[in-house]
Amino acid sequence: MNQLMVRSVFRHAITGSKYSRYISSAAASPLSAVAVVTSSDEAVVVRGQGLGFLGGAPWSWRTMSTAAEPEARKVEKESSTAVPGKKKNEESGEVVVSSYWGISRPKITREDGTEWPWNCFMPWETYQSDLSIDLKKHHVPKNFTDKFAYRTVKLLRIPTDIFFQRRYGCRAMMLETVAAVPGMVGGMLLHLRSLRKFQQSGGWIKALLEEAENERMHLMTMVELVKPKWYERLLVLTVQGVFFNSFFVLYLLSPKLAHRIVGYLEEEAIHSYTEYLQDIDSGAIENVPAPAIAIDYWRLPKDATLKDVITVVRADEAHHRDVNHFASDLHFQGKELREAPAPLSYH
Ligand SMILES: [Fe+2]
Ligand SMILES: [Fe+2]
Repeated sequence: MNQLMVRSVFRHAITGSKYSRYISSAAASPLSAVAVVTSSDEAVVVRGQGLGFLGGAPWSWRTMSTAAEPEARKVEKESSTAVPGKKKNEESGEVVVSSYWGISRPKITREDGTEWPWNCFMPWETYQSDLSIDLKKHHVPKNFTDKFAYRTVKLLRIPTDIFFQRRYGCRAMMLETVAAVPGMVGGMLLHLRSLRKFQQSGGWIKALLEEAENERMHLMTMVELVKPKWYERLLVLTVQGVFFNSFFVLYLLSPKLAHRIVGYLEEEAIHSYTEYLQDIDSGAIENVPAPAIAIDYWRLPKDATLKDVITVVRADEAHHRDVNHFASDLHFQGKELREAPAPLSYH
């Protein structure tokens, strides 16, 4: 296989011809992949049938190469009106190119065959939330670190309650800008540790980055419901600057405290989303239709409402609570995270 790749690279470098071979990487998702090596311009065909989302459309990737396309080929492609991945923006008249370096995006469809409208996430990154998760679980503070973490979170809640009161939409949107930071910081530091120590992370890098991405999707959903005002944007800038750096230093010094704090923050998030749901039930907050992005991301029914969205978001927070308390517990036992399999793709 290596010989094949090396030969291919040399042949391409020497001849500059269209003849090229690329080797697919196996899909890391639930997709089952079949790699087809071809001599045609569209190099690799990976056919995925996972979750039935791809509608059988060929998924064409050019892998193993970062070389720019030859100029002549680019011009040839650009002049063709049949190039997939190029769309004309009806309003501005500009041509929107949804491909990179000549690699066009395949047609991706939902389960019902309709076109997948999102570029920011793909069907195989969506899931149905596990609503059976226990929302009342609480880690009772047992030692000084736990108590410090618990008190810190309770203290942080005071200014949040004063500032937002019962404006839960606004509150959720602002807090999600913070909630997506710890997973990214923890994942990044574990990533660097893995590089430094030449050792695997046991899946924890991915688990923490998954958490960060999931929190960011909460935010992307919230901004569909609540439009941030200029002073809220300013507040986010300030809070992110302070919180990112503080959490970074904290995670370096004491990952067990960092994870415990996040665990308690998630407990508070569950509490806030429960109050949000109560206000929806009482009619204080209108139960508007769910944003389209939420319907696709959580595979909700088409007539889903805000209540359905908040219910699945709350279940996500309960999952984050358990992941972070578990991570902290591992550190308390004197273990490294990689010693226990990471809770990947639980949601
Ligand atoms: Fe969240
Ligand atoms: Fe969370």
